[in-house]
Amino acid sequence: MENLQDIAHQVYQRTGVMTSSKDVEKILSAVAATPHFWEIITLSQRPFSVVAEMIELLRQKNLVTIEKNGDIKFNSKGLEYLNSLKIVPKRVYTCPACEGRGINLSKLEDLIKKFDQVTVNRPKAISDYDQGFVTTQTVVSRIVLMAERGDLEGKKLLVLGDDDLVSIAAGLSGMPTEIVVMEIDDRIVEYINEVANKYNLPIKAMKYDFRDKLPDEYVGYFDTFITDPPETIEALEICIGRGISALSQEGCAGYFGLTLIEASLGKWNIFQQILASKFKVVVTDIIDDFNHYVNWDYLLKSVGKDYAFVQVEPRLNWYRSSMYRIETLIDSKGIENEYKPCELYVDEEALIYKEENK
Ligand SMILES: [Fe+2]
Repeated sequence: MENLQDIAHQVYQRTGVMTSSKDVEKILSAVAATPHFWEIITLSQRPFSVVAEMIELLRQKNLVTIEKNGDIKFNSKGLEYLNSLKIVPKRVYTCPACEGRGINLSKLEDLIKKFDQVTVNRPKAISDYDQGFVTTQTVVSRIVLMAERGDLEGKKLLVLGDDDLVSIAAGLSGMPTEIVVMEIDDRIVEYINEVANKYNLPIKAMKYDFRDKLPDEYVGYFDTFITDPPETIEALEICIGRGISALSQEGCAGYFGLTLIEASLGKWNIFQQILASKFKVVVTDIIDDFNHYVNWDYLLKSVGKDYAFVQVEPRLNWYRSSMYRIETLIDSKGIENEYKPCELYVDEEALIYKEENK
């Protein structure tokens, strides 16, 4: 039967994403644990295109059967194959109370309730800017994480892109002295300013494209930034570079999410080199699966139209990202200049790659 290396190579040829035999093992182990495509992605933590092509390959090799409802199941030949490789179903021991974040939200029930009430009419996620917002538990956990690390109370916070409405949660917490939102989507800028006015929160939202220079008055102004960048290398570099240039001195912090769904470990490595060598910041935390995203309406229209097993409504909040915290040193340096035009959303690892690049 097929060896893992050959499968890895075939997946690489179909996707252009470097894929190893260990990646193949992880995906096989995830498929053995659940029949639901979107949960397989969550469990395998590999790029979407890699997982989709790998399952298609398993189907073509007659190792899995796709059922009418899209469920993916190993058949007897597939089970034999798993057995021969000693691959077991992926184990999950995540704490259900905190969903693995390690944060106790029981003291924050009021903030959770208030945030849900205040944001009930929030703008819908749209594909133009790669939007998809996080759950309320995630937003409040971000507030708690920043507070626990000493980066929020009495501090000036920059939110770079805020379809997640972190600024509103931060404002409602009463912790930061000043919150500035820079956001490209007019709907969200308007919405945040309206809510801030209505509830008297210390938030100012303005339109901003992070390829442009930061407004002069905000260079070196903030204690903390938080953002959820698109995941091409260019977007990661410019977005985090802007955040760093907005920080005032050493010992300031930046927070951002990074997935393994749209970014391979190869991309993590390149980006970590940029953080360490170019920006001279330190990664102090990477918290696995911290950010859980609410399923967005345009998902099935934008991905995997060819595959019956992809065209299935997600049964869980499958899209997740790790939370990075970085801290500045005395010689840290972000990006202050104009930036060259660059691709922010689409590369071979992006969710929307399949449709737009065929
Ligand atoms: Fe826990």
